[in-house]
Amino acid sequence: MKVVAFSGSARKDGNTAILVRHALDELGAAGVECEFLQLAGKKAHGCLACGKCAETRDGNCAGIRDYISEECIPRALEADGIIIASPVYFADVTSETKALIDRLGYASRQGGNRLARKVGAAIIAVRRAGAIHAFDTINHLFLISEMLVVGSSYWNVGYGRAIGDVEQDTEGVETMKTLGRDMAWALERLAGD
Ligand SMILES: Cc1cc2nc3c(=O)[nH]c(=O)nc-3n(C[C@H](O)[C@H](O)[C@H](O)COP(=O)(O)O)c2cc1C
Repeated sequence: MKVVAFSGSARKDGNTAILVRHALDELGAAGVECEFLQLAGKKAHGCLACGKCAETRDGNCAGIRDYISEECIPRALEADGIIIASPVYFADVTSETKALIDRLGYASRQGGNRLARKVGAAIIAVRRAGAIHAFDTINHLFLISEMLVVGSSYWNVGYGRAIGDVEQDTEGVETMKTLGRDMAWALERLAGD
């Protein structure tokens, strides 16, 4: 079983990454293979609406060669579980996260709904407001893709502004740990089918 996590934060190893790692630690402890890709500093273009993915139909974006099509989408297609994480920018996800959502979502659907029955979870880092809207944005991708969405003891949100602040949000950290354990639980049972 494998989980791939993506952070769409512009800050490498920032609050978003800290939250993701709390969830991945629990998944790893449960024996799930984990990989974590951060979009910070990478080229991540939005969808061109070129329709090439509808010609190739392999589930990947054929219109742009960048970090999303070369690294992110192939990993998402082969994983059993996908975490997409973002900080809140103006009450929504970052541009990089949205680029991943649009291209992964569109290309995988054109390739025959290739995300179907994978397990998904969204994670959000936020200073003050807009977390639920950003959380919903990511879940829209999962839920139109026939994915099974895992929740936690609270919505998957951690609070902080400067890098490291989210560690002070003890409820947020616990939420991530519970999320990781519940995702591992779900993956294990689905694999048994
Ligand atoms: C351009 C920009 C827009 C932001 N917009 C919001 C916002 O709408 N609401 C909020 O609570 N925090 C906002 N923030 C703060 C970040 O969400 C917060 O600092 C978060 O912890 C950053 O995560 P990171 O360390 O992974 O980058 C914004 C930050 C930036 C740079």
